Amino acid sequence: MSAPEIRFGPASGLGSLADPASTVVVADALTAGLLPSGFDPGRVAIVERGEAAKSLSSLEAVYERFLELGVSRDWTVVGLGGGSVSDLAGLAASTWMRGVDFGFVPTTLLAMVDASVGGKNGVDFRGYKNLIGCFSQPRFVLVDAGLLDGLPDDELARGFVEAIKHGVIAGGEHFAAVGRAVDRRGRIRRQALGEVVRLSVELKSAFVESDALERGERRKLNLGHSFGHGVESVTGLPHGAAVAAGLATAHRLAVELGGSAGDADEVIGLLDRLGLPTGLEAARRASVESRDLSPSSFREAVAAALGADKKLSGDVMRFALPLAVGNVEMRPIPLEELRAFARRAP
Ligand SMILES: NC(=O)c1ccc[n+]([C@@H]2O[C@H](COP(=O)([O-])OP(=O)(O)OC[C@H]3O[C@@H](n4cnc5c(N)ncnc54)[C@H](O)[C@@H]3O)[C@@H](O)[C@H]2O)c1
Repeated sequence: MSAPEIRFGPASGLGSLADPASTVVVADALTAGLLPSGFDPGRVAIVERGEAAKSLSSLEAVYERFLELGVSRDWTVVGLGGGSVSDLAGLAASTWMRGVDFGFVPTTLLAMVDASVGGKNGVDFRGYKNLIGCFSQPRFVLVDAGLLDGLPDDELARGFVEAIKHGVIAGGEHFAAVGRAVDRRGRIRRQALGEVVRLSVELKSAFVESDALERGERRKLNLGHSFGHGVESVTGLPHGAAVAAGLATAHRLAVELGGSAGDADEVIGLLDRLGLPTGLEAARRASVESRDLSPSSFREAVAAALGADKKLSGDVMRFALPLAVGNVEMRPIPLEELRAFARRAP
């Protein structure tokens, strides 16, 4: 799988990457409004907004649209939207006629820093996320931070969690830039986002290029996601909010195992300023689905959910442990140890 061309610039430059005469754009009802001029609104496949786009029925509707438009091997499919749109568009393009050319124009912060760079495409099935999908790389990703202007603050904060995660992995100036992008009152400085997005995209693409199938170093990108996925499955909180709780919990575990308490406090403080849940109890209270559970049964449910993690090998998890900002170590930790921590962590 060759790495995509990542281009930073206005979305209006899409015409230099894809020929409007043989391009079909996959978008949702909102992101279709961001279609660059020169592209025909009649050659758009509109899908549902949010996670609902990631279903077999949406995939089928996209295929129907491809058939109507006569999309053939020499066409390009462009996913214009958040991660839900790009995950679906990438899968549709990779399977249509055994695979046609595709590219992404991400429109959410999460899609810019994470979903559009990584070569993973997919839809959900029977309530399980990303159960059907494929690894395949877009030919290009066109990143225009100006598209984020209309994105609500809470959506922006949730996407920012992945940017914080990248900053923790890289450390140094990268982490400092992430910190500078949040003001004292916890508001994201939108004018600082361009730099944070660029640093994130560069870090993630370097990991993906060296380890496309996620067998080595790229696993560090799972930082915060082991506890995060457990929290997400029990609370139903949006991904970014659940990962915030997971990242904070991973930092607390790292402190118990000899990591830097000062760095953990700094990361947890940043998440807190952004109004995100900074631990398991905060996540329990933040969700209508879990706030009526007792704290102990909530923790039992999160502990049980850790058993469904893809990073488990037998009874041991390859856990991304943030010993310090700039020092994330892949450490094998017994599942029972992680479960015990979930039962006592704040
Ligand atoms: N493939 C990967 O590697 C990867 C990585 C991370 C996340 N994901 C997936 O991404 C999905 C979540 O994506 P998401 O958070 O980007 O959101 P999304 O695509 O689900 O969209 C969320 C909402 O934001 C709206 N929106 C999109 N762009 C906007 C803009 N510029 N202004 C205002 N509103 C806008 C959409 O219409 C939608 O209502 C999940 O399904 C997740 O699994 C995939």
